[in-house]
Amino acid sequence: MMVTTAIERTNAHMARRVRVVRDLAVLRRATARYRLAGETIALVPTMGALHAGHLFLVRLARRKADRVIVSIFVNPTQFAPHEDLATYPRTLATDVAALSELEVDLVWAPSVAVMYPPDFATRITPQGPAEAGLEDRFRPHFLGAVATVVAKLLMQCRPDVAVFGEKDYQQLKVVTQMAKDLAIPVRIVPGRTVREKDGLALSSRNAYLDPAQRTVAPTLYRVLCDCAEKIKAGQGIDAATAEGRRAIEQSGFAVDYLEARHAETLEPIRSPKDGPIRLLVAAKLGTTRLIDNVAV
Ligand code: PAJ
Repeated sequence: MMVTTAIERTNAHMARRVRVVRDLAVLRRATARYRLAGETIALVPTMGALHAGHLFLVRLARRKADRVIVSIFVNPTQFAPHEDLATYPRTLATDVAALSELEVDLVWAPSVAVMYPPDFATRITPQGPAEAGLEDRFRPHFLGAVATVVAKLLMQCRPDVAVFGEKDYQQLKVVTQMAKDLAIPVRIVPGRTVREKDGLALSSRNAYLDPAQRTVAPTLYRVLCDCAEKIKAGQGIDAATAEGRRAIEQSGFAVDYLEARHAETLEPIRSPKDGPIRLLVAAKLGTTRLIDNVAV
């Protein structure tokens, strides 16, 4: 009979700490081993400060492939000079603990110097969904920087599947188009938006909201849902989005956009007859900019 102590039993339940790789040669050796064993790989790209939304994508990735790699890289090029790069939350130890619990195989956490050596000179300029007049209008530097870093992450990790959240809907469409246009052999898998009980989409930036702003923040999702219901009930798109915009502004937000777009191309859409509709919003509460979207 085997006798186990309490400590041994606790250890057995503790997940093994996930391997954190910072060197490209080491990453390549690990992925080559996976592929040689005939195993498929799923990648979940993140900037860390992981919340339940990210962890949901990781669980989704687990179901899509034999091995799961999570990348953690706060990509400096996708922040404009006035944005929050310096204060963006960095919580690597907690992130690694959470990913170990989920039995992630490897965390790819390159330094800025590994990602962008001094002679780095190539950038991707996405068009199509990247020029829809949504995020690109307010953050002109953003989607090109995302396309470039994601292309690089895909080349580094060479996954069969890469998971992206619908929370950043235009980003999801840009990355999907980019992988197709550049014939990158990866399947882009979308993951639904994880929300707080009151509807607020989880975001690392929610931490910037003060208690009063936090109570107002769920208005964004509530109005999107109302607006979707009105369009489904036959109200004109322009009237429904104009009313939604007013409701969001009245609650204290400064609205960047509230738009109904074709869910695939992100082009403006006249009527539900012309294709599936996605409602997308971006608005600021004080200095915190929140985005969200829903299907109609
Ligand atoms: P980050 O903001 O860390 O988000 C990583 C992934 O998590 C993205 O695919 C994002 O859409 C998804 N995500 C964020 N909030 C979510 C939520 N509430 N529910 C479900 N998924 C959610 O997006 C980026 O990083 C970066 O731009 C990146 C793609 C890593 C490139 O630098």
